[in-house]
Amino acid sequence: MAKARDKQRERFVRARERQLEYQETKAASLTDPAATVRPYFLQTQALRARLNAVRHITSADRLIEVGSGAHGHVFWFGCTRSVGIDPLACQYKRLFPDWQDKAATIAAEGERLPFSDASFDIAISDNVIDHAERPLAILDEIVRVLRPGGLLYFTVNVHHPVYDIASRIHGLWNAAGIKVELSAFADHTVHFTESAIRKAISRLPLDPIEQSSNVGEVRRAQRSAAKLGPDPLLKALFFKNATYELIAIRQ
Ligand SMILES: C[S@@+](CC[C@H](N)C(=O)[O-])C[C@H]1O[C@@H](n2cnc3c(N)ncnc32)[C@H](O)[C@@H]1O
Repeated sequence: MAKARDKQRERFVRARERQLEYQETKAASLTDPAATVRPYFLQTQALRARLNAVRHITSADRLIEVGSGAHGHVFWFGCTRSVGIDPLACQYKRLFPDWQDKAATIAAEGERLPFSDASFDIAISDNVIDHAERPLAILDEIVRVLRPGGLLYFTVNVHHPVYDIASRIHGLWNAAGIKVELSAFADHTVHFTESAIRKAISRLPLDPIEQSSNVGEVRRAQRSAAKLGPDPLLKALFFKNATYELIAIRQ
């Protein structure tokens, strides 16, 4: 049990290192910050409009984004009392000061949010939990800090079940001392299937308003893509990186 926990911690640390390397490369080639963030700004405005249609949002709403990343929604959402949580928050602030200063951020892990129960009106976590050490603990924490009647926006990547099995076998090789880093498995600590994440969500005190995935679309696109090399061939057989999305109200 302790060994499995150590293994999961190791995967999280490696995923975090890879994320930082990726963002450092991006920051080094950043020439026009305004143009770079424009698409993220527009995505956030579209998300705010969708959420506003579910429950009226005001600039006084208290917003938390767990895994606010290099350019999360919190920076452009327009709530004055907002906070972004990310283990790499300090590094992102250094790399991207042009927009990271638009919201307060805290270097912390979503598994242990430094806030009391029901502190927020809106919670966002977009493509985060499967990069973390204990993904489902993050969901529990988000639900804990969201007030009853509060609004949740959540997404996570979902994959064909074969990746869950393969990543466990890959973990066993590494535990046995055969150290091989396969990038297909290095960025995610867990490979959720759509049914696994739906089951985890159904156990939480949430009323889903919209719940969907683009598995069908991603599967069709990956099947019809040119299959040069093992990676596209594998994806044509077993889809990867579809998105599950949820808008819900805290009970
Ligand atoms: C793929 S990025 C997504 C960032 C952002 N949500 C976006 O969509 O641009 C995943 C982020 O999750 C963060 N992360 C990893 N483990 C975490 C944890 N335990 N708690 C909160 N954030 C975490 C990573 O540092 C990284 O910034």
